[in-house]
Amino acid sequence: PAVGASPVHEFPSLRYGPAAGLNKNLVPDLKDATPYTTKVPSLPVPSRVQEGKDAAHVTSVAAFDAMWKQSINDPEAFFGEHARNMIDWIQPFTKTRHGDFKTGDTAWFVDGTLNMSYNCIDRHALRNPDKVAIICERDDPNDAPVKVTYGELLKRVSQLANCLKEMGLKKGDRVALYMPECPETAIAMLACVRLGLVHSVVFPGFSHEALADRIRDAECKVLITADEAMRGGQRVPLKNVADEALYHTPSVEKVIVFQHTKTNAIKMKAGRDIYWDDAVKPHRPYCAPVPVAAEDPLFMLYTSGSTGQPKGIVHATAGYLLGIMLGGRYGLDIRESDVVAVAASAGWILGASYVVYGPLALGATTIMFESIPTWPTPDRYWSMIERHRATQFFTAPTAIRALRRLGDEHVLKYDLSSLRLLATAGEPINEAAHEWYFNVVGKGQIPVIDTYWQTETGSPCIHTMPGVRPMKRGSATHEFFGTQVAILDPETGHEITEPNVTGVLCYKHPIPSLCRTIYGDHQRYESVYFKEYPGHFFTGDSAYRDEDGYLFVTGRCDDVINTAGHRLGGTELESTLVAHEACAEAAVIGAHDEIKGQAPVAFVTLKPTHIPADQIPTVLRHHVRRAIGAIAAPKYVIVVDELPKTRSGKIMRRILRKIMDGESHNLGDTSTLADPDVVDKVIKATEEAI
Ligand code: WTA
Repeated sequence: PAVGASPVHEFPSLRYGPAAGLNKNLVPDLKDATPYTTKVPSLPVPSRVQEGKDAAHVTSVAAFDAMWKQSINDPEAFFGEHARNMIDWIQPFTKTRHGDFKTGDTAWFVDGTLNMSYNCIDRHALRNPDKVAIICERDDPNDAPVKVTYGELLKRVSQLANCLKEMGLKKGDRVALYMPECPETAIAMLACVRLGLVHSVVFPGFSHEALADRIRDAECKVLITADEAMRGGQRVPLKNVADEALYHTPSVEKVIVFQHTKTNAIKMKAGRDIYWDDAVKPHRPYCAPVPVAAEDPLFMLYTSGSTGQPKGIVHATAGYLLGIMLGGRYGLDIRESDVVAVAASAGWILGASYVVYGPLALGATTIMFESIPTWPTPDRYWSMIERHRATQFFTAPTAIRALRRLGDEHVLKYDLSSLRLLATAGEPINEAAHEWYFNVVGKGQIPVIDTYWQTETGSPCIHTMPGVRPMKRGSATHEFFGTQVAILDPETGHEITEPNVTGVLCYKHPIPSLCRTIYGDHQRYESVYFKEYPGHFFTGDSAYRDEDGYLFVTGRCDDVINTAGHRLGGTELESTLVAHEACAEAAVIGAHDEIKGQAPVAFVTLKPTHIPADQIPTVLRHHVRRAIGAIAAPKYVIVVDELPKTRSGKIMRRILRKIMDGESHNLGDTSTLADPDVVDKVIKATEEAI
């Protein structure tokens, strides 16, 4: 199968029409579209979610379709009414929607004011202070889970907010978080939004250089970190890594350090660093929530795109809140009595939306998982679900594939009957993983909810709905409220209406939770998402619709590599590699990987260097690890004399992808190659390297 595609169904055929004024250089490469052959059968909707006490919020195709149509035809009514009912406003809005995809500038509920943390905490804490808001599963399974009630959450968030206020932070200021997956991360996020501060959670697996880049780009004034994180029994020295980053981040005035493992192996810089406990102790455990305009920035999250440096995606307060509440309630069927287990980092949009903000906005209990699923045994998730009677479980296909390989017995030991649905996001879920998730974890009784979305969209746009349509493996089914997909021919920009033809995946209308800008670079926002296909939002993915109307997202059509649920920019990796003294040129592609979906593979040419040839791959891998983080380190670094290029000098990554996927005999059109002999040499070098 093609890279990133689920092995069950091949790419449908793609016809190229005449070009219609699109910038040819920007037309995405649809990888190699081959004819669609297998029809994906549908699986019936498990009866549990259609009837009785477990019935989902929406239980029929007719009911869903009526709501969806209203969301498209009368978004003012649909989103206006939901925003009034689901959100507690300080000042209610009078105008629901503003702007469109022609300009790319959209706004929702503009004249309303609200506070995110009030909606996630106070309104539940005031009614029900003893209800558990957060359960944290520690890395060491022998440590008792930590529980934080809504009442405690209000106090702890308030204290930290008062402390941040005293540090002089004002609405709109940025705060970086580099934290373990523990309740203090959620507390820090909520303390920021209580004051209208914009947090930027940096994934704790990123290196000091990547952390420094993100802090500098956002000009953060405060960094909140911890001494160490624990993952699978290993210490992750967050503060020490942060110290390295802080040499290069002049904007940071204060660093708050949460003592998580209480190690002495860290240094505190006088005047700059303060321990969390000391910082919050003097402060009152109540802080009035600051009124924030609906369109004020809520938070930012860095993600990789097809060009340049990672971009700081900025979400707006009310629209994002509404998006995750709609997705949480209707898509994941979350109720107040639920215990939601989402295994994702808060440094990823899935964690921000469904570990922290979504379940709390809906007044449910959320589980934070600090460890890794296989530590010390591969049953951590299942034991956690049994002990806490979790009702929803959500993770990425990469984790499902990894756990499936380790055997059914780890799942079968546990009583998972509390679960009402299983969900997945981040990449296409392949047949075998879906089958195992559905039958072994879900016992064939609860639906597998495939959700397709992006950091940019904040909440899911294509969503298997529990209790509505039958499932098809590999399909996230149908658009969620407010989203109407257009699959466009990449060359002409015309909409493809025929079934089973792959094109680029675009949206016709804005949804409230769509990001509003890229921090510090609105022009880039306009050009990445709105320029290529005017009037549409361009996702960067390719997709097709089958004859039954099911949507299949087949993978990225730009050079973004989706590895184990993380987005890496191919160009970002390439510039990192060529920054090394030994590397002349680099081409990085995502090659198919059994567990991770894709893994980065680098083809490089060298400059004269003293480094022995056999050490080059290790040296370059280490270099990437240091510059970005372990997740970005190429699986293989393949040294070649020359890269395959077109006559105009463009690297033909498509050919490299084919070679890595074992399709050297079927390279497709190679007529534009400047020197066809290069390909044979690359094939030989690849065979030797892997
Ligand atoms: C991919 C993750 C197929 C896609 C929530 C997208 C998916 C990128 C799915 C966004 C899915 C996400 N099926 N592909 N259900 N969900 N993707 O920003 O390529 O980390 O563009 O957000 O993941 O990744 P991000």
